[in-house]
Amino acid sequence: MFVRNTMPMHRHPLDPADRSMLGRDASAAVARYLDFRGNGVGTPLRMLGGLARELGLGALAVKDEGGRLGLGSFKALGGGFAVAQLVLEAAEEQLGRRLGYADLAAADVRSLASTMTFACATDGNHGKSVAEGAAAVGASAVIFVHAHVSDARVAAIARHGARIVRVDGSYDESVREAARVAAREGWTIVSDTSWPGYERIPLLVMQGYTAMAREALAALDEPPTHVFVQVGVGGVAAAVAACLAETLGEQRPVFVAVDPARAACMAVSAAAGHPVAVAPGEPTVMAMLDCFEPSPVAFRVLSRVADAFMTVEDEDAVAAMNRLARPAPGDTAITAGESGAAGIAGVMVAATDAELRQALRLDGKSRVLAFVTEGATDPDRFRALTGLDP
Ligand SMILES: Cc1ncc(COP(=O)(O)O)c(C=O)c1O
Repeated sequence: MFVRNTMPMHRHPLDPADRSMLGRDASAAVARYLDFRGNGVGTPLRMLGGLARELGLGALAVKDEGGRLGLGSFKALGGGFAVAQLVLEAAEEQLGRRLGYADLAAADVRSLASTMTFACATDGNHGKSVAEGAAAVGASAVIFVHAHVSDARVAAIARHGARIVRVDGSYDESVREAARVAAREGWTIVSDTSWPGYERIPLLVMQGYTAMAREALAALDEPPTHVFVQVGVGGVAAAVAACLAETLGEQRPVFVAVDPARAACMAVSAAAGHPVAVAPGEPTVMAMLDCFEPSPVAFRVLSRVADAFMTVEDEDAVAAMNRLARPAPGDTAITAGESGAAGIAGVMVAATDAELRQALRLDGKSRVLAFVTEGATDPDRFRALTGLDP
């Protein structure tokens, strides 16, 4: 499925609230948080010249998020940043003084944080980020996981001291259950998806993701001409696209949002011109992208700053994982999980399809940027799909 963005808001300015939380200043605040967390240098940007040549592209830059904050995925940026920000805001109100990220280590701020509980629903990676972020500031976390989250992923979350609650049903059902229980218990929900009346915290999570765009631009000699980002509920695609558009203005790249064909909530919404839920079907191998309702905030942002929406099949993601793990001559090998490889799968599909190449104006001069959003966060899956040890 390929959908060109013909929505009326395409390339219109962002809403002021979205702009203030996803623009250049917002990403600078995240960089200060990452400095405090000891991740000031960020993640590596790999130039895959061999794969670019194979695909008939000028250059292919891949930001490898597998090592982010030791959590295995870019999601480490979002939940943890939102928790830190919410603790600081509560502490500023209670203590009556302005605070910076370094104050998260102060005894009175940690004492206040120890009274706060943060909750969320997760496919795996977001929950790990909230759990780790809460532990880092001395707060508690309760993480809701749906029926298809593997035991390995649950164990990786529990390792950060969070309480785990299993929910029957899909990701979207776990989101609703987490919201219901948190309202009853007085916990703060730190969701990576938004819903009507609940936008600020998901925007804080998305603000955390803008670090990827900021770091990528800083590492590149020239801005990219094309950017491909995979979509679960759309938060990361919207954050990266918004930050690039706000930072680069008219020089912004062609932005392509990449959905799994089996959970194409954003592509289907783009075709409809408004957010729609798709019917859950056979689970996609891209387990972290198995979402059936787009985040309304992400849709609002992407309707303005995405230029196209496309889908990739499960076998495309597996082919991308294998291409990254067994690279073209001269390229560095990258360990990508199934969802982590989905953006590159989008690049590989688009670059090798004559119609898509033309529609996206991809050619031998294109400088493409994509994100490996996770490493082998489920090592057994990685072994099964690549025949390699992570
Ligand atoms: C590795 C990975 N990539 C991409 C995504 C998609 O992010 P979003 O749900 O913000 O679209 C996720 C979401 O959990 C993820 O874990």
